[in-house]
Amino acid sequence: MPETVSAMLSAILDLTDDAILVIDPPTRTVRFSSPRAIELIGPVLLGDSVPVSQVFANDEAQFDDFLRLARSVTDPIISQVLLLPGREVVTVKGRRMTASDDTSRVLLLLEREAELSHRFRLISERILALRTEVGRRVLAEKRLSSNIHALRRALGAIRNIASIDVSTDTYLQEAVTLIARDLETHGALLVLDELGRLHVGAATGRFGGILAPKQTLNLSHADFTRTWARDPKLARDLLWTSLTHASGGALDPAGTLAIPVSVSGAIRGVLICVPNAEAAPGGVTQAEGDIVAEVLGNLIARAETEARLIHAQKLQAVGQLTGGIAHDFNNILAVVLGNAEILLEEITGPRLELAEEIQDAAIRGATLTSRLLAFARKQPLKPETTDINALLREIDPLLRRTIREDIDLELVSGGGLWPGRLDKSQFENAVLNLVANARDAMPEGGKLTVETANVRLDADYAAQHEEVRPGQYVMVAVSDNGTGMVPEVAQEACTPFFTTKAVGEGSGLGLSMVFGFVKQSEGHLKIYSEPGLGTTVKMYFPRDLSGNPVPAPRRPDRAESDTPRKGRILVTEDDPGVLKYVERSLTKLGYLVDAVTTGDDAARLMARNTYDVLLTDVVLPGTMNGARLAAIAKGIAPRMPVLFMSGYSENVIVHHGSLDQGVEFISKPFTRDQLASRIAALIRA
Ligand SMILES: Nc1ncnc2c1ncn2[C@@H]1O[C@H](COP(=O)(O)OP(=O)(O)OP(=O)(O)O)[C@@H](O)[C@H]1O
Ligand SMILES: [Mg+2]
Repeated sequence: MPETVSAMLSAILDLTDDAILVIDPPTRTVRFSSPRAIELIGPVLLGDSVPVSQVFANDEAQFDDFLRLARSVTDPIISQVLLLPGREVVTVKGRRMTASDDTSRVLLLLEREAELSHRFRLISERILALRTEVGRRVLAEKRLSSNIHALRRALGAIRNIASIDVSTDTYLQEAVTLIARDLETHGALLVLDELGRLHVGAATGRFGGILAPKQTLNLSHADFTRTWARDPKLARDLLWTSLTHASGGALDPAGTLAIPVSVSGAIRGVLICVPNAEAAPGGVTQAEGDIVAEVLGNLIARAETEARLIHAQKLQAVGQLTGGIAHDFNNILAVVLGNAEILLEEITGPRLELAEEIQDAAIRGATLTSRLLAFARKQPLKPETTDINALLREIDPLLRRTIREDIDLELVSGGGLWPGRLDKSQFENAVLNLVANARDAMPEGGKLTVETANVRLDADYAAQHEEVRPGQYVMVAVSDNGTGMVPEVAQEACTPFFTTKAVGEGSGLGLSMVFGFVKQSEGHLKIYSEPGLGTTVKMYFPRDLSGNPVPAPRRPDRAESDTPRKGRILVTEDDPGVLKYVERSLTKLGYLVDAVTTGDDAARLMARNTYDVLLTDVVLPGTMNGARLAAIAKGIAPRMPVLFMSGYSENVIVHHGSLDQGVEFISKPFTRDQLASRIAALIRA
């Protein structure tokens, strides 16, 4: 009998003024006696486990019969006993203490008058109730202690999982091995989703030899989660069927525990354990499994965050590198391009072709650096309030020139389209890149659609996509019904230099440029693709809420080289090659040009002469950079326009990727026509 029961029984017997004994029939001993019983029978009862033979003078067999009878029926049995030492005859009422327990005690009430005591019944009933209550508590304590054991096990597992290094390829296998060991299971299996397919993430113990890591299952993640939401049991059955199939029929689902593993609230997989009944009281509990599965989900989330961070750092490094190279490279290209242009004008005959080739190569080089800069989000952008439908109509001929005749291009302009905020020339580039990709994906021809619509991205959508702010966007979708992409390709498509095209056919920078540009425009990019069906790339640009009037479509740049120009221009550029090219070009156009290599020289000249335009490099050696020079110019000649030129501009005049208000800027390398039209526009204004 548990300690607590004994203590409470003696307490009750102490309280009664009846003569009561508790007998243990198998040992024929007295286990408890009330004070009144001790008074009646004598100090012999003060000992522990007093044999009944020292209390009663009855025949043993007769007394046993009485006890047996008392234990076999629920109502009290009345008999008579002879008390020792005087063999006094007293009436005894016997009653069993519990109904089910086979070692149940018998309660005896000794009375001098032969009358059924009402109080006796009450007391015995109370003891019965007490026994039931205590039984319940003992059971609860047992459960609690097994829960505490489970909790300790789970805590151990959590501690061990938390210290796993998630940067290794084996972190999941390590985690699952620890879980199996710490939870005292025969084995554990983690089934995970990647790119929509379920596969074996890690397996150990009983599962170890049967299933290979990374082995794919013939059950899609979508089917599994959809079924799980409706009917978890059916989902488990589906999973077992595909696991059995994958293992060649060697798995037994009996007694296993399957717990979904969620990452950021979405089910990503399932943890399966085979509880080890001998080692763990009650086996692994559901609660324990839930805790461990949650920790596992957090571990996966941590690993993914870390991987994303590393990826982001890598891209940042590419960006920094690109920025640094682009600056010098663009200066070089400016010289090559400019001089090729001059050659083209000055020579004739078979050499002309050579000059054309130089020009083409320089333009290709310029496109490459500009795409890299766009990917690195370091292209100086001039975001403007834009009617995107009008802009698309404007570039429609250009798009049609890009595709082939067997491709049917349709422009679907959304009605009541909000004005968007974007850099028009980069937008053109982006659409051109997408259209070129769609063309290449439809070698046999097909249908290409460019579609616009107003879209609201809500908080839920934003939470599920990185770097997306909820709000109103103008969407531009480019769709084709071409080859489509398998998930692995779609996932990598925006990585710089990733291409599936043959050498020389693709640089792998098209989508990288689009991605960088959209992000730099504070927009969002999403690729939907089905192998064999086609692809849709959606760009989202922020709705322009400035209330600015939407500017009328631009007039195409005229070739302005022909009409001779008037005006005096001060050029500041530290790269002598570029300086010479710019000076020569402007002189050829008819301008008077003063060319210097430092800001200090420029400042001295401005103090002496009057100029119509200051054309200056952004980055200049010494303390006088382009921005300071412009500030000085403003003091000397407030009405003189300043045009900055640079090959790379994450600096003084470009903040967060967009130009300061009112700043005029031309990206290196530029053609003479481009320079001519900018200068002419500034002098006109
Ligand atoms: N519309 C599309 N349909 C099918 N696959 C596409 C589509 N767009 C892009 N891809 C895939 O993504 C890859 C990367 O595209 P991206 O535009 O960045 O580079 P590229 O087209 O290969 O080269 P580049 O654009 O520099 O000439 C492509 O090689 C192709 O495999
Ligand atoms: Mg491309």
